[in-house]
Amino acid sequence: MRFLDRWQSWCALALGALLIAGCNNPSTNSVQRGYRGTGMVELYSPSTSAALAAANTIPPVAVVPAGGPAAKTVFKNLQVLGDLDISQFTGQMGAFAQWVAPQVGCPYCHVEGDLASDAKYTKVVARRMLQMTRQINANWKTHVAATGVTCYTCHRGQPVPANIWFQDPGPKTARGGMIGSRDGQNSPAIAVGLTSLPYDPLTKFLDRRGEIRVMSNGPLMAPNHQAVTIKDAEATYALMMNISQSLGVNCTYCHNTQNFADWKISTPQRATAWQGIRMVRELNGSYLGPLKPVFPPQRYGPLGDGPKVGCVTCHQGAFKPLFGAPMAKDFPALTASNAAGEPVTTVALTQ
Ligand code: HEC
Ligand code: HEC
Ligand code: HEC
Ligand code: HEC
Repeated sequence: MRFLDRWQSWCALALGALLIAGCNNPSTNSVQRGYRGTGMVELYSPSTSAALAAANTIPPVAVVPAGGPAAKTVFKNLQVLGDLDISQFTGQMGAFAQWVAPQVGCPYCHVEGDLASDAKYTKVVARRMLQMTRQINANWKTHVAATGVTCYTCHRGQPVPANIWFQDPGPKTARGGMIGSRDGQNSPAIAVGLTSLPYDPLTKFLDRRGEIRVMSNGPLMAPNHQAVTIKDAEATYALMMNISQSLGVNCTYCHNTQNFADWKISTPQRATAWQGIRMVRELNGSYLGPLKPVFPPQRYGPLGDGPKVGCVTCHQGAFKPLFGAPMAKDFPALTASNAAGEPVTTVALTQ
């Protein structure tokens, strides 16, 4: 008996020592984000942090002095940027080329010899992207604050941003029969951190407006009771994996593990994320979705849907895109309230 006691305490000691050694592992830094004892800790590995920092440097900005007449008095086919003066306008075009198509430059969007032509689909897409960027910077300050975004936030020098998504058909399996639909489970997908959670929570939550919940909102018999099924809960966890991965953070960046649903004990970042979810739904619903017929079919996904934006499209593994570098302030044309043609939508934050 006595021997067993000793043996147990020795085991506990050894285990403790191992755990402490684990905590002091020099290749990981831990940062407390909540009160002690709440388990709200973030772990960072210096080697991945260094790679991430290198990937998030911004290109040098050529700030163009204002000057010259309004661009619309000189050019023929301006639907958005007409009020810029010539000097700013030319600077903005140079930046488009640098951010989106540095290899090809102006001809990526323009027919050579006829800059006014809209014959290339890329120019038509770029004009809508411009309106989308303005909408983000002017009307989604609840998410992007004064930091804002530019084309570079998503594009990073490539015509097709590295982190877009499509509806995911999942692995080919025989559906129906005795086993029935697996609802996308047990097929570890990168989008959900290689867990066995449903592999496509994005269609449900970031394109459509599914309820992101694991708990029903009150007693079963209450008048407006909204039942939350196990399927909803699993999809919610899958989305949470995707969000965490997109920002390179743990659940505790936003939640207190005591109660994930309780807003009172969540971090302020969770409210920012809530706004982000609504913003992304609007970007997909009002911009990327309607652009689908403009894109050529080779830009479509395996199920024939068009490209879409997720958290990772801007964040790319950083808690703030480009670690919060305030790039947009140097390009007032990207924040200007929407001029000609674009109705300024007032976004109801109850969606
Ligand atoms: C990513 C796409 C893209 C790239 C790259 C690009 N442009 Fe443009 N350009 C546009 C769009 C979109 C418009 C229309 C803006 C509007 O409707 O207000 C435009 C309009 C113009 C116009 C006005 C033509 C007219 O008469 O209406 C000129 C001039 C121009 N661009 C020059 C350039 C030059 C020079 C470059 C290279 C340094 C360049 N652009 C690179 C997308 C692009
Ligand atoms: C929130 C992220 C985001 C921002 C900001 C953004 N884009 Fe895009 N852009 C996308 C996505 C997603 C696509 C679809 C990718 C594809 O073409 O398959 C796209 C596609 C494009 C294309 C078509 C490329 C091709 O070859 O099919 C052009 C051109 C473009 N964007 C220009 C711009 C310009 C110019 C800006 C800034 C005014 C901008 N984008 C800002 C996400 C963004
Ligand atoms: C960047 C912030 C952020 C991170 C990281 C995050 N969440 Fe969330 N989580 C949210 C937001 C915002 C909501 C509410 C979404 C809504 O209502 O639209 C939410 C909702 C939830 C809910 C539903 C609560 C309810 O009301 O039923 C659960 C459970 C949850 N998260 C668990 C997790 C887990 C587990 C992780 C880690 C894998 C995680 N979250 C990571 C922001 C985050
Ligand atoms: C259009 C680009 C864009 C998209 C898409 C986007 N974000 Fe952000 N996000 C930003 C910018 C820019 C900031 C920095 C704002 C600031 O400086 O306070 C930010 C900040 C945040 C923060 C606050 C970080 C902190 O430490 O203060 C959270 C949390 C966040 N985003 C979550 C999300 C989630 C979750 C999604 C997807 C549902 C998302 N974001 C999609 C651009 C974006």
